[in-house]
Amino acid sequence: MSLIAELEKLIPDLRTELIRACSLQELEQARVACLGRKGSLARIMARLPELAPTERPAVGQKANEVKTRLTELMEQRTAELEALEDARRLSGFDASLPGRAPRQGSRHPTTLVIEEICDIFQGLGYEVASGPEVEADYYNFEALNMPPEHPARDMQDTLYITDRILMRTHTSPVQVRTMKSRKPPLAVIVPGKVYRRDSDLTHTPMFHQIEGLMVGRDVSMAQLRGTLTVFLRGVFGLETRVRFRPSFFPFTEPSAEADISCCICGGRGHSGEDVCRVCKGTGWVEILGCGMVDPAVFESVGYDPEEVTGFAFGLGVERVAMLKYGIGDLRMFFENDARFLAQF
Ligand code: PHE
Repeated sequence: MSLIAELEKLIPDLRTELIRACSLQELEQARVACLGRKGSLARIMARLPELAPTERPAVGQKANEVKTRLTELMEQRTAELEALEDARRLSGFDASLPGRAPRQGSRHPTTLVIEEICDIFQGLGYEVASGPEVEADYYNFEALNMPPEHPARDMQDTLYITDRILMRTHTSPVQVRTMKSRKPPLAVIVPGKVYRRDSDLTHTPMFHQIEGLMVGRDVSMAQLRGTLTVFLRGVFGLETRVRFRPSFFPFTEPSAEADISCCICGGRGHSGEDVCRVCKGTGWVEILGCGMVDPAVFESVGYDPEEVTGFAFGLGVERVAMLKYGIGDLRMFFENDARFLAQF
């Protein structure tokens, strides 16, 4: 290799050394090895007398250029490392250590179920609606056909703020708010938080519900059954069987509860020898409350019960998620343990 080529190669060589040097001390070693009295530049220059006198000026000029560049590179890296050492001293942490890879988050199972259910109903033409969590007694109870002293108020352990303001115990007050602010026909789906004075292994003071409401001319119980069957099969699988049992809610008449065939044991009531823990051997699990909107509710929102009919339903989101994903413990939803959440 010619002396000129050897001189030029000093630049990439020094660059590599400078990147490796992580302290001012290592930097000094690199400087001595390259630019020092016995360094690589000096060793090349010591061979200058081997050249013919006519070749020497060109090599001498190249050596000066290279030396300037090498000195620049040294100064640059020195400034960088000095700044880094300052930062190290000031903050007590080593900014030259490799970083920790950020952990990718995932969506909460409650969110996943809400999104899935709202998607299904939006596909059927429903609009998503919402209402306040701190609610007036009027919307939570009175307009839903539960006047003061109505025994059905005891079905729900209410958290009161004042004697007329409370934490909503269900998403049904949004039925009243929606109907009061709009004219029929309408179809809404309402996800949201609800609150009850209840806390044990299977109850938390806050949980999520989804309310559905459809109002129009000639809306029928058959449509309620059809809609809820399609929806439940969408969430739990096409092979799911759905049945409706008579029930009671003050704001629907007639009222029903829907059961689905147990998605844990496939409706058999047992898995192998053991009685299914989830459906307790019956093969069915309760999944939602529903019914035809009571005429008294239409009257409190100013709709004419002779003109319109409607159906409504409400279900617990955590309950759906427990059945759908086979989660055994309700408390998992509220502990925010990253190992639990990462599974969805
Ligand atoms: N709001 C009722 C509950 O929380 C559920 C429901 C909603 C029932 C709509 C019928 C109609 O238990």
